[in-house]
Amino acid sequence: MAFNRKDGFYHKAKREGLRSRAAFKIEQLHQRHRLFKKGAKILELGAAPGGWMQIIARLVGPQGLVLGIDLLPITGLDQAPCHTLQADILDPELAAKIRTITSHRFDGVISDIAPNLSGIKTTDQQRSRELTSQALELATTFLKPGGFFLCKVFQQEGLKAFQREVGSNFKKVILTKPEASRKSSAELYLIALGCRG
Ligand SMILES: C[S@@+](CC[C@H](N)C(=O)[O-])C[C@H]1O[C@@H](n2cnc3c(N)ncnc32)[C@H](O)[C@@H]1O
Repeated sequence: MAFNRKDGFYHKAKREGLRSRAAFKIEQLHQRHRLFKKGAKILELGAAPGGWMQIIARLVGPQGLVLGIDLLPITGLDQAPCHTLQADILDPELAAKIRTITSHRFDGVISDIAPNLSGIKTTDQQRSRELTSQALELATTFLKPGGFFLCKVFQQEGLKAFQREVGSNFKKVILTKPEASRKSSAELYLIALGCRG
């Protein structure tokens, strides 16, 4: 069967004025796990073009904060609660850049990062592990005690070790696949609740 990029979720996103079909993944994860509360401060890594930010902004409301970071510019999402930063999450100066935007800790750190693929399996898997480790590092640096971490991961070597590493920093770790995630994709979402701080 041919791979159909423009599936039902793609058309639904177009109809609802959402920037990406990925928006439905975060909506479904929220429906199941009630992650985003009014007034919450959320740090999103790999946020372009901003589909998740659109959904989360509605949920946290204008008193909250959704700080989206990406290598690519995220345009037109610069009104409260949204704020964007064009940066590489592997940049050693990133933590300092985030602190110039807010001195607060975050209620949630979320990552939908997918590495730019080289086509060489071992290189791509290594790159993906490097990005998820950095996402965890940023989460443990910037989360309030009790905060949550949500991260896209791939079913590949190293996933169990990553789950164990996350588990040593959080009270509960769940692996899940929302309905809007393509069945053919190896992606899963890891949700870690109760940052030990
Ligand atoms: C699947 S997209 C995110 C989609 C987003 N959640 C949405 O709903 O619109 C993954 C993003 O990760 C970004 N990315 C990849 N490597 C990155 C890095 N090292 N630093 C920052 N962003 C990165 C890509 O530029 C891409 O925009």
